[in-house]
Amino acid sequence: NIRVVNRIEDVRNTVKEWKNQGLSVGFVPTMGYLHEGHQSLIKKAYEENDRIVVSIFVNPMQFGPTEDLDTYPRDLERDSKICKDAGANLIFHPEDKEMYKNDFLTFVDVNGLTEGLCAKSRPIHFRGVCTVVTKLLNIVYPDRIYFGQKDAQQLAIIKRMVRDLNIDVEVIGCPIVREEDGLARSSRNIYLSTEEREAATILNKSLSKAKTLIENGEKSSEVIINQIKETINSEPLARIDYVEVVDNLSMEKVKYIEKSVLVATAVYIGKTRLIDNFIY
Ligand code: PAJ
Repeated sequence: NIRVVNRIEDVRNTVKEWKNQGLSVGFVPTMGYLHEGHQSLIKKAYEENDRIVVSIFVNPMQFGPTEDLDTYPRDLERDSKICKDAGANLIFHPEDKEMYKNDFLTFVDVNGLTEGLCAKSRPIHFRGVCTVVTKLLNIVYPDRIYFGQKDAQQLAIIKRMVRDLNIDVEVIGCPIVREEDGLARSSRNIYLSTEEREAATILNKSLSKAKTLIENGEKSSEVIINQIKETINSEPLARIDYVEVVDNLSMEKVKYIEKSVLVATAVYIGKTRLIDNFIY
C-alpha cells in the first residue's frame, strides 16, 4: 500500500534511500481532494521518474483572510487511493505546525509576475505559494516537479522562481484536464450547486469562442477581451473578476497578439471563484 507520512524527516529519509539506489524522484505538490487534473500530473510524473512523491497540504499561507481555508474540501482516504492508482509511492501529509513554527519569519516573493491576473484579488496568494513550494522542494528534493497549466500564473511564477534562485529541479507544466462539458476540473467545483455547475461552463465557452476569433486572425486584445466579457455576462450567475491577454512569459498585458499569449479569466459563479485559460 502507499505510504502516508506527516513528518519532514520521514520524507527526507525515504528520498535519500531512493537517491542512494540511483532512482529518480518526481514530485507533485497538491492541496488534496484530488481529481483527474491532479491524477494526470501524477501519471506524467510516473512516466518520467522511478519514484513519485505527492504532497497533500492545504497551505494556510496562500489563503486570504476572507477565502475558503476552513471549508476547503479534504478526503485523505480517497486521495490515497487516487495517488496509489496513478503510481505514486509516498504521500507527504504534514500538519500545519510541521510546516510552520509559531515564529516563522521567512517568505519567498516573486515580483512583477505577481501583480496582475489572480494577484489583484488575491494579493498575498503567490507569496504563500512560492514560500510553500520552496519549502517542499527543500524537503522532497526531487529531480522534477509537476504543475498544471490550469493555474497558468502559478506555473509561470514557479518557473521564474526556480530559475532566479537556482533551485536544482526541472519544472514541468501539464495540460488542463476538463470535464466532459469543458469545465476545467477543480477541487472547488464541489462548491457549485446544480444551477451554478451548469453556469460554470461559461468560462470555457467564452474562451473557446475567443480562441476561434484569434485563429481567424483577430490580433487585438481589446476585441478578444470584450468578446469574452460579453459571453460571460450573458450568464446571470457569473460575475467577472478579470479577463486578460498577457505575454505568456512576463505575464504583462499585451495590446496586440504577436508572440505567445495567455488568455486568462477568473469568474465568480455565485460565491465560488473559478479560473480558466488557454495559450495561443
Ligand atoms: P491544487 O489546487 O491542489 O493543485 C495542484 C496541482 O494540480 C497544480 O499544479 C494545479 O495546476 C494542478 N491542477 C489542478 N486542476 C487541474 C486541471 N484541471 N488540469 C491540470 N492540472 C490541474 O495549486 C495548488 O494546489 C497549490 O497552490 C500548491 C502548488 C500545491 C501549493 O500549495
